[in-house]
Amino acid sequence: MTCCSAPGKVYVLGEHAVVYGEPAVLCAVDRRARVTVDPRDDGRVRVDATDLSIDGFTVTWDGAEGGPPDVDVPTPLVEAATGYIDAAVSQAREAADAPDAGFDVTVESEIPVGAGLGSSAAVTVAAIDAATRSLGVELDARDVAERAYRAEHEVQEGQASRADTFTSAVGGAVRVEGTDRRELDAPDLPLVVGYDGGAGDTGELVSGVRDLRDRYGFAADAVTAIGDVVREGTELLTAADPDAGADGADGAFLDELGELMDFDHGLLSALGVSSRSLDAMVWAARDAGARGAKLTGAGGGGCIVALDPTAETRTALSFTPGCEDAFRAELATDGVRVEEAA
Ligand code: PMV
Repeated sequence: MTCCSAPGKVYVLGEHAVVYGEPAVLCAVDRRARVTVDPRDDGRVRVDATDLSIDGFTVTWDGAEGGPPDVDVPTPLVEAATGYIDAAVSQAREAADAPDAGFDVTVESEIPVGAGLGSSAAVTVAAIDAATRSLGVELDARDVAERAYRAEHEVQEGQASRADTFTSAVGGAVRVEGTDRRELDAPDLPLVVGYDGGAGDTGELVSGVRDLRDRYGFAADAVTAIGDVVREGTELLTAADPDAGADGADGAFLDELGELMDFDHGLLSALGVSSRSLDAMVWAARDAGARGAKLTGAGGGGCIVALDPTAETRTALSFTPGCEDAFRAELATDGVRVEEAA
C-alpha cells in the first residue's frame, strides 16, 4: 500500500490570463488530498472516493476503454473521481513501463471540488506519485507535475495551464509563465479563504473568456492587463523580506499586494468569471478590513481569497449570507509527499 498526499492552492494573482501565456502567482495551502494505492492483479482500476466534500461513492471500471461507469451520482462528480484518476493511472503506467498495472485507489480530500482550490490537481498529483511508487518508480516533484499537467490537459480537453499541478507538486509560493515554472522565495501571506459551497465549470468559464478575447480588443487588453498586474506583484513579492512572516509583513507591502488583488478581481469580473456570491464575499472581506480580495481559480462560484493578518475577515465572512465556510489558509511548504509506504 502506498499513500501520497498533495496540497491545494490559491491563485494570489493571474488565473485565466495564465492560459494565454501571461504569468501567475500561486500559493499551495494546507488543505490536502490523500491518495492510497494498492496494486491489483487483474489490471482493473477501482476507485473509492469517500470524502470529496460530496456523498461517498465507489465505482469500479476498466479504465478509459471501458467507458464511463454506470452509477447513480451526478456526472461531474463521477468525472471528478474517474477522469482524473484514470488519466493519472495512465501516466503512472507509462512512467513505470507497466501498461497492464491495475490498482485499488482510495481518495480522501479536504479540498472542495471545483471551487478554485485545486482539488483535481492535488488528486492527480498525489495519484501519480502513489501509483508510480507502488510500481517501484520514484519521480521527482517536477516530473510528477509535468505528468499531472498532461493528465489534466487530457481530461480538460486542452484547457489547462501548468499552474495548479506545478504548485501542488512542489508546494510553497510559485510563479508560472507558460512552460517557465519557478518557486518564489516570498513572505508567508496572511490568506483567508471564503467558500460559497458551489463550484464553477472551468471548461465553460475558460471558453467564455476565450470568446470575449477573440471578439473584443478591450477583452484581450484586460487579459494582458492581468499579466501586468502579476508582473508588478512578482516584483513586490520578490523584493519583500521572505522571513517577514504573516504578522511581520509590513503594512505597505500588504496594502500594495491587496491593491493588486483588488485590481485583478475587477479585471476577472469584467471578463465575466465572477458571480454574485463571489462578489458578496469579496466585498464582505474588504468591508471587514482585508487589504485585498479576489476570486481564486476559474470563478463562477467556489472560493475567494483575501489578505488579512487579523481575524476580522474570517469572522465577517462566516456571517456573510452565501458564505458556507471561511478559514485561514496557511502556506503549505511541502508539495507532494509520501504519507505511508508498505
Ligand atoms: O478553478 P481551478 O482551480 O481549476 O483553476 C482554473 C484556473 C484557470 O486559469 C482558469 C485555468 C487554468 O488551467 O489555468
